[in-house]
Amino acid sequence: KILILDFGSQVTQLIARRVREQSVYCEIHPYNISLARIKEYAPKGIILSGGPSSVYDKDAPHSDAGVFDLGIPVLGICYGMQLMTHQLGGRVERSHKREYGRAMMDLDDTGDLFSGFAAKAEVWMSHGDRIEEMPKGFHAIAHTEHCPAAAMKDEKRRFYGVQFHPEVVHTPRGEEMLGNFLFTVCGCQPTWTMASFIESAVAEIRAKVGSGKVICALSGGVDSSVVAVLIHRALGDQLQCIFVNNGLLRKGEAERVVNLFRSHFRINLDYVDAADRFLDRLAGVTDPEKKRKIIGNEFIFLFEEEAAKLGAVDYLAQGTLYPDVIESVSTKGPSAVIKSHHNVGGLPEKMNLKLLEPVRELFKDEVRLLGKELGMPDEVIWRQPFPGPGLAIRCIGEVTRERLDILREADAIVLDEIRKAGLYREIWQSFAVILPVRTVGVMGDARTYDYTVALRAVNSTDGMTADWVKLPYEVLGAISSRIINEVKGVNRVVYDISQKPPATIEWE
Ligand code: XMP
Repeated sequence: KILILDFGSQVTQLIARRVREQSVYCEIHPYNISLARIKEYAPKGIILSGGPSSVYDKDAPHSDAGVFDLGIPVLGICYGMQLMTHQLGGRVERSHKREYGRAMMDLDDTGDLFSGFAAKAEVWMSHGDRIEEMPKGFHAIAHTEHCPAAAMKDEKRRFYGVQFHPEVVHTPRGEEMLGNFLFTVCGCQPTWTMASFIESAVAEIRAKVGSGKVICALSGGVDSSVVAVLIHRALGDQLQCIFVNNGLLRKGEAERVVNLFRSHFRINLDYVDAADRFLDRLAGVTDPEKKRKIIGNEFIFLFEEEAAKLGAVDYLAQGTLYPDVIESVSTKGPSAVIKSHHNVGGLPEKMNLKLLEPVRELFKDEVRLLGKELGMPDEVIWRQPFPGPGLAIRCIGEVTRERLDILREADAIVLDEIRKAGLYREIWQSFAVILPVRTVGVMGDARTYDYTVALRAVNSTDGMTADWVKLPYEVLGAISSRIINEVKGVNRVVYDISQKPPATIEWE
């Protein structure tokens, strides 16, 4: 396994993903992790990430210099390379020219790190400082016009530094370079596959839970579904799933979930139809945050009630993912709460349950691979994200049964057309929103006064920022005419072309 020390780069997680894509397990830890813990972790190699600082800044993040005395190979990327230079006695300086973007790099040594490469390689640069003098024992293995030491090595100690970013897609053969570090320099073996993950996860779950009982709140989303199937593989009937239909789901969603888990996977599933309770509580409420609170509280209440019927329960399963677990060294302060997200957050403490989080080491794309390996259908694995409060926050204004029905039908058409156009997977989220606005239209010879539906389709990598999708006019046209013709109560369709920020993905 590989240890990645994070110095606050925006793309540290990409390093981890590139490493894991090559079937080598790795973890990200903050740069200031103690030497003792590093030794305990016993990595085969250490990667120092990039970061926004300059090694001469007053508060520049420094790792324990003992990292360089462990006899373990080290690869420094960008800031990581500069820090390595600084800590090993070389000299880093602010270069007069900031290098940013694509650069052609001349390779001076096509051994180890660049083995398999010709004389040149395209790389992605993003740095102000540069190496002025390499530490003793190092020599340059690549250069660019503005950067005499674009890559360097000390092969005796197996220390490598690269000024560019091999982890980003703009460095076309970056993965190969990282692979050379992993396999040639560190001697890693590509043994970390989803099949091996399942094997060890199943063993771990069994050892941890013993003969205990586990409950899992299914949402129909990717993470909780995969977690349920994985735990079921390990524990069979010791797993009890609870699925609450809050009346705010998409068309056919509840049936799909029940079918898949009960009939296909034969998992114990407690199906709670609580649509009326949720909708009654939501009557007259228009404030988005109030909607979220009501839905969140009602869910917890119901879940506890159902769990209580099950007798003694020991664990609550959760689909926590690796990005939620990595200790962030981001220098930005805590961000303001824009929307309070509803999830099962408060449950474990309140119910006195221990947590079972079998995918907390995985990235989202790995969870999908895991689902595939567990035999789950693509339809579930590739499902677009769907918010906990569901259609309530897409029904702007008051959530009524009538408007929910309209929205559900319109939304089904959006998804159907997006799927038919072959766009479903590549779009982050695509959905309909019903506005509390009625406008005039004409149908046949009669005047109509009906609702407006807004379409939203965005691309995003993590939901933090997003851009609207340039859907082909034909797809927009097909969605619009189908909704207006097939959904009673709608006579106008508009397309939302706002970015996040400043708009958000959901309208509420
Ligand atoms: P926004 O609207 O904040 O959404 O740009 C970002 C991502 O989060 C989802 N979202 C939610 N998910 N509970 C959830 O579980 C919520 O209350 C909630 N609000 C937004 C949204 O669908 C998008 O993927």
